[in-house]
Amino acid sequence: MSKAINDFRLKLGGKEYVPILVGGMGVDISTAELALEIARLGGIGHISDAMVPTVSDRRFKTKFVQEKQRKYKYNVGSTDKAVVQFDLERLAEAQRLHVGRTMEAKKGDGAVFVNCMEKLTMNNPRDTLQVRLLAAMDAEVEGITLSAGLHLGSMELMKDHPRFNDVLLGIIVSSARALRPFLKRAAKYKRLPDYIIVEGPLAGGHLGFGIDDWQEFDLKTIVPEVLNFLKENELDIPVIPAGGVFTGTDAVDFFESGSSAVQVATRFTVTNECGLPERTKHHYFEAEEEDIVVNTISPTGYPMRMLKQSPGIGSGIRPNCEAFGYILDNHGHCAYVEAYNRELEKKPEKISVPDKTCLCTHFRKFSIWTCGHYVYRLKDTTHKLENGKYQMLSAEEVFRDYQYSKDHAITLPEKKQSVSSDVSLAAA
Ligand SMILES: Cc1cc2nc3c(=O)[nH]c(=O)nc-3n(C[C@H](O)[C@H](O)[C@H](O)COP(=O)(O)O)c2cc1C
Repeated sequence: MSKAINDFRLKLGGKEYVPILVGGMGVDISTAELALEIARLGGIGHISDAMVPTVSDRRFKTKFVQEKQRKYKYNVGSTDKAVVQFDLERLAEAQRLHVGRTMEAKKGDGAVFVNCMEKLTMNNPRDTLQVRLLAAMDAEVEGITLSAGLHLGSMELMKDHPRFNDVLLGIIVSSARALRPFLKRAAKYKRLPDYIIVEGPLAGGHLGFGIDDWQEFDLKTIVPEVLNFLKENELDIPVIPAGGVFTGTDAVDFFESGSSAVQVATRFTVTNECGLPERTKHHYFEAEEEDIVVNTISPTGYPMRMLKQSPGIGSGIRPNCEAFGYILDNHGHCAYVEAYNRELEKKPEKISVPDKTCLCTHFRKFSIWTCGHYVYRLKDTTHKLENGKYQMLSAEEVFRDYQYSKDHAITLPEKKQSVSSDVSLAAA
């Protein structure tokens, strides 16, 4: 008989979960509201700490960004951004607010984790990452997913925190090769990860593959490689595939060959709880396969998948590192700032930067529409209403469909009246 996700459970830290993780989607695309709903339903939801001062300002009306911008206003015209440092105490405050308030609101049997990207180097990679990790643990987060980097120094940064052995810790890797050095370091601190997310080339966000070779990889072959590697080393750590798991049955196929849960994201981008603006969610629904591009415009150096209609592509916006500056490396450099300065020297009337994007500004404005490869199938997960729009989904509808679906079937939500659905959404 065919099985559904609900026939399985993920065991982590002595608890059992519905084996569905909703991945971190920065900047505040995976909102606290979305993560909390997933936890209520018995799964694991992620918030993300990408640009956490900005996120805190939006959520709690704090003034972290304004304060930083004011302090460094004198530097706006300068091409050198090295002086623009984050105040570590303020950063900790923002992280404790974002994570802490979310944890206080948690209900249900599931969990809320935070996604921490190493590539958010913030002009002081070591100290800012340490502050984010420690403050998240202070704020009682249940789990930390280390992402966008090898995290070879992250255990050292966390080791003295009283919750180091109690918080659940996981890492996202795209190969067994990337996992090896992390596990070596982890063994040194006698703190192996509690779970390993294996992200394939069809995921949204940044990809852990090269721009020229990502198409040669397949999650279905990478996951067994990681499982074998763990077996050979007698390590019993849950493995969680991610990237292109579009139906519950896709997940079951992985469970039957040794995986313990799946991490998904794209299907939740068109839920009411997702942080994307309503009109952007409609672009996701309307996307066709030929609209999807993988490019290198992210200044992080990682390839990224997005819709080619993203308004942030090719924009020549002035870098706003005095307010943001999340991609500045430890010398105060960012590939976008360099590309922008190059264009500026040409003295054009209107600057356009075709090869890089200002990730901070454009993610804050939701104008880089990153997505998983199967974004073009979202239209098959709901109704097209008489007014031509797609009916928005609730996180519960998507979660339940993953949880109970069999044989790749997708259960559509109950159909709403065409006009009232948009009116009620506008009023919400
Ligand atoms: C809109 C969007 C934003 C994302 N942002 C991040 C992020 O900030 N950090 C991260 O580690 N992964 C990010 N991801 C990857 C997801 O967490 C997840 O692992 C992956 O997209 C799962 O594949 P799926 O989208 O095909 O379900 C993002 C994915 C999407 C769709």
